[in-house]
Amino acid sequence: MNTSSLISYIKNTLYPNDLSIPLHRPVFEGREKEYLADCIDSNFVSSVGQKVIDFENQIREYTGAKFAAAVVNGTAALHAALIISGVTPDTEVITQPLSFAATCNAIAYCGAKPVFIDVNASTLGLSAEKLEKFLKNKTQYKNGKTVNRKTRREITACVPMHTFGHPCEIEDIARLCREYNISLVEDAAESLGSIYKEKHTGTFGNIGIISFNGNKILTTGGGGMILTNDSAAAERAKFLTTTGKRPHPYEFFHPEVAFNYRMPNLNAALGCAQMEQLPAFVEKKRALAEKYKAFCAEQKIHFIHEPAGSKSNYWLNAILLSGREERDQFLKETNSQGVMTRPVWDLMNTLPAFSDCQVENISTAENMADRLVNLPSSVPTES
Ligand SMILES: Cc1ncc(COP(=O)(O)O)c(C=O)c1O
Repeated sequence: MNTSSLISYIKNTLYPNDLSIPLHRPVFEGREKEYLADCIDSNFVSSVGQKVIDFENQIREYTGAKFAAAVVNGTAALHAALIISGVTPDTEVITQPLSFAATCNAIAYCGAKPVFIDVNASTLGLSAEKLEKFLKNKTQYKNGKTVNRKTRREITACVPMHTFGHPCEIEDIARLCREYNISLVEDAAESLGSIYKEKHTGTFGNIGIISFNGNKILTTGGGGMILTNDSAAAERAKFLTTTGKRPHPYEFFHPEVAFNYRMPNLNAALGCAQMEQLPAFVEKKRALAEKYKAFCAEQKIHFIHEPAGSKSNYWLNAILLSGREERDQFLKETNSQGVMTRPVWDLMNTLPAFSDCQVENISTAENMADRLVNLPSSVPTES
């Protein structure tokens, strides 16, 4: 492939004002400073405050989830979501090997083990077909529980991930989870603004989570959100992430061990201002993806586009190269010329912490891991 023409296109057409081009930078062109000042003036800069409530309401409205609980980051959101979904020590959680480490770390925090099922080549998310095959052939359903025939451990949850913002086959996965009585925890960390068949990602299962890390489409500095339509799960999410304190005007009684995972009001203030710009962020990122798509079609480069039936936020644009050799050469050339690109994450089953976990046939993920690279994907700024 002609790497230098892609580099020129990125430098001269997509980001003409940037000397060095990052993978994803935040944009603060709204009322961020004003809302931060409101927060400081109110003295409520920490774990309670009106901005947290406002931000949760904005996210509820935008995603259509009935309840939303703001937390300190996406990993904490996943950890709490898994506990609420019944993931206990020595149980197993089905997930995809192609993900960021946080997905599996949260499973490990619960004392549970991931079981790795392959991804679908067009969504880059968990394959519904491979999941079904695994559940049919390798598990036993008895007394409302799904047990892994090989390990004899109960499978308590399934965590698919919407890779780079592209919705996975979430409807089919949700159906399978219902059939096998497995909790569905949707890792929508990367997919705020992405829709699958008219419904926002993160709202298909018992619980979904979003990340607002600095590299995401919307940032609160650091932050996360738990989404659910279930009032009991929502209540439990608030309880577990706010130190498990029994609500009382002045007494401090904590009936069980819980977490201080609250999002500070200062971070939520950023979130409120960012939410006002989110529809524009999504549209600008989709327009950027269209440009990449047209350029790649012309140059015969395999561009990863949104799967059928979905509307992606195109958090990170990606292309598929022919193999490791071409990928490594591409990474070297682009990064040395000030255009930041990166390979996809090392597969989770190859990390020391998860190398003893069960791995089904993951040939698609392995193939993708050698060939995928991400391209600069920031919302282009006006100046
Ligand atoms: C797929 C995935 N899951 C979980 C997380 C964790 O989110 P955070 O960094 O906010 O803890 C991230 C991103 O950072 C992610 O990309």
